[in-house]
Amino acid sequence: MPFSEGFLWGGATAANQCEGGYDEGGRGLANVDVIPHGPDRGPAMRGDGTPLSCDDAHYYPSHEAIDLYHRYREDIALLAEMGFKVYRMSIAWTRIFPGGDEEEPNEAGLAFYEDVFRCCRDHGIEPLVTITHFDLPVHLIEEYGGWRSRELIGFYQRLARTLFTRYKGLVRYWLTFNEINMILHLPFMGAGLVFAEGEDREQAQYLAAHNELVASAWATKIAHEVDPGNKVGCMLAAGSYYPYSCNPADVRDAQLKNQENYFFVDVQARGHYPAYALKKFERDGIDVGMTAEDERVLAENPVDFVSFSYYSSRCTAAEPPEGAEMTGNAFHGVKNPYLAASQWGWAIDPLGLRITMNDLWDRYQKPLFIVENGLGARDVVEADGSIDDDYRIDYLRAHIEAMRDAVTEDGVELLGYTTWGPIDLVSASTGEMSKRYGFVYVDRDDAGEGTLERRRKKSFWWYKKVIESNGEDLD
Ligand code: BG6
Repeated sequence: MPFSEGFLWGGATAANQCEGGYDEGGRGLANVDVIPHGPDRGPAMRGDGTPLSCDDAHYYPSHEAIDLYHRYREDIALLAEMGFKVYRMSIAWTRIFPGGDEEEPNEAGLAFYEDVFRCCRDHGIEPLVTITHFDLPVHLIEEYGGWRSRELIGFYQRLARTLFTRYKGLVRYWLTFNEINMILHLPFMGAGLVFAEGEDREQAQYLAAHNELVASAWATKIAHEVDPGNKVGCMLAAGSYYPYSCNPADVRDAQLKNQENYFFVDVQARGHYPAYALKKFERDGIDVGMTAEDERVLAENPVDFVSFSYYSSRCTAAEPPEGAEMTGNAFHGVKNPYLAASQWGWAIDPLGLRITMNDLWDRYQKPLFIVENGLGARDVVEADGSIDDDYRIDYLRAHIEAMRDAVTEDGVELLGYTTWGPIDLVSASTGEMSKRYGFVYVDRDDAGEGTLERRRKKSFWWYKKVIESNGEDLD
């Protein structure tokens, strides 16, 4: 058996990309609700003049998403049918504290998630809960400027304590911040940063990052106090940077780009700022406002495990050679000439998963958890209603093989594997529905039209078999 007994196979979603019901059950307005579909999405995610309210001229996909808010019983039953051992999902902060800074939580929101967790448990599924997956109450942006403000550390502590206390015995695995390093790329998503004209963006981004890192350490401490059985992980948007060539300048460039991302996990897993970051702050005049108490809480509360998303590797050159194609998503770089790409231009690199796993394991020596992996692709519904997504099966098979090799041949310790979007959901980067990751098809298009009917794809039966055989049968 390549994987241990109890290996956690499953899938992952995020509240804002699947729940909908954005103004139901006392939920407040969140940053993710004011990010529209269409050409204004990019600047909104980056915090370039993002409006903090909605208007009639735009379509906001989070408002209804795939309506999991009303259909979670049906959806969790589908995941259970595939044999899921774990379901990674996130809490919408605004369901629990609608404005973020209230003294008392919203009971309707707490009851909703309690029911979701009970439903998972009834199916023998372990919930893995992300406390914040890119979401933040709009009120905390308007009143405090988002994660720039230290006051958010206290509000986050209250949120975390409320969750750990209420769901004690129901939830044991927690992630503090989804893809915490995204703050450097899409600072409005998650951190709620909207930049003033002429503002030093880097200073604001690292200040917000520091506040999140300290909040994450506090949450880890509280989780262990409330229930010593709780396991808390950090979460990185991973994928190692390769140098475009063996020119040392390219190798150094890749090293620097990797450090930019590892910085977050270096703090969360080791409990202190790495020297290269402190030197950078000194050089660039960045002040994160570190206090003696911050230092102590970081040092005393490293995470229990390191989780990450992996879709592709990255590639960089100190001086991109003439004619080299550049890639345009959140992580800018040179197109790797050795790799094919998805319909959205994301490089497909299964071996890169093994490389990334080894990089992270060597660096931290903490158990890893792959909490996102998958292929965003356009699916076609055939005349008979079937969806033959062999391309998705091929992508996942190759990545599971690479993951298996990292475990069996390299000795990497791995807790589990959750594919991204086991049921089709809204794309975070584009707001589209047509960028599908699921084993379950959802009848809804990019404009929000469709019946929302669920339908099993070919990959549904394939993944069921993978789980049943604990990763042995990948055919
Ligand atoms: C990760 C996020 O960045 O990648 C998810 O944690 C996101 O929220 C996923 O959906 C895939 O990206 P996209 O843009 O294809 O939805």
